[in-house]
Amino acid sequence: GWTMDDVLEEELKVIDEKVGPEEHVICALSGGVDSTVAATLVHKAIGDRLHCVFVDNGLLRYKERERVMETFEKDLHLPVTCIDATEQFLSKLKGVEDPEQKRKIIGREFICVFDAFGHDLEQKVGTKPTYLVQGTLYPDIIESCPPPGSGRTHSHTIKSHHNVGGLPKDMKLKLIEPLKLLFKDEVRELGKILNVPVGFLKRHPFPGPGLAVRIQGDVTKGNALETLRQADEIFIQAIRDAGIYDSIWQAFAVHLDVKSVGVQGDQRTHAHPIILRAVTSQDGMTADWYPFEPKFLNDVANKIINGVRGVNRVLLDITSKPPATIEWE
Ligand code: XMP
Repeated sequence: GWTMDDVLEEELKVIDEKVGPEEHVICALSGGVDSTVAATLVHKAIGDRLHCVFVDNGLLRYKERERVMETFEKDLHLPVTCIDATEQFLSKLKGVEDPEQKRKIIGREFICVFDAFGHDLEQKVGTKPTYLVQGTLYPDIIESCPPPGSGRTHSHTIKSHHNVGGLPKDMKLKLIEPLKLLFKDEVRELGKILNVPVGFLKRHPFPGPGLAVRIQGDVTKGNALETLRQADEIFIQAIRDAGIYDSIWQAFAVHLDVKSVGVQGDQRTHAHPIILRAVTSQDGMTADWYPFEPKFLNDVANKIINGVRGVNRVLLDITSKPPATIEWE
């Protein structure tokens, strides 16, 4: 039988044979486990002829950009350009309420930013990049399409749509997919050998369209993004403190575009509810809601109500998948 060390050695050899000594390679980092492990592996093979980009689309979680950039730079020494495209994304999303429309706009803007990155790089190093690194896993390849009529896009379709299908024709990038024969747990093992911090390898998945699919309606309306970030951070921190983060597949808060009446001190409030969603799952295809202790829920609800302006109710989503999806949009 082979070990992860064998897999690493084999992949390094493949990349070394594939990529010529003058060739440059690009990679879009999402902040997730797969793209990070793939980039770290390729960096080990070709060094700084790998050029990574991390896009802040304005739809990231609380301090996400700072946190992942610190890991990329301090722990992994990856050459990463961080592009703040917040204004670009949010201006295009203004007034857009339909979930599929939001996804399309985000996909399109991502390609624009990535395109510009490729052209800037060509100016800088004097040659067009020839390869693109993708963190495609084995299940991404074997998994079927989303249920017909669900109106949802499968995550691999999203990945390829973001990274390959939408690339400008003149770039003609060939693919490096060093994880394409591996399952998620094997990627984590490989990441460990590559010195990716274990805490990072255990991060919950996060959707490409980010908080846009966790804010009902127009994401730019009012203070929704900031409110959601704060509530989500309190929830996730409480989950970490309770020592249950690794038992949960995914946990997050959702912002609803409705208001209800409440009372705080002697003031009447009219504010938004926050939904808490946490599920267990093997692969995201089916999921069960996570059974929190009542005291945990009570404490989190109090922290959110007392700590986040504009929220006066906390609700818990107790729906499994199916019939619900994990995300709200
Ligand atoms: P659903 O909501 O379909 O989510 O039950 C299943 C898993 O996929 C993630 N997800 C996405 N990932 N782009 C992504 O990259 C998307 O548009 C997207 N939609 C859902 C979701 O977070 C969960 O892990």
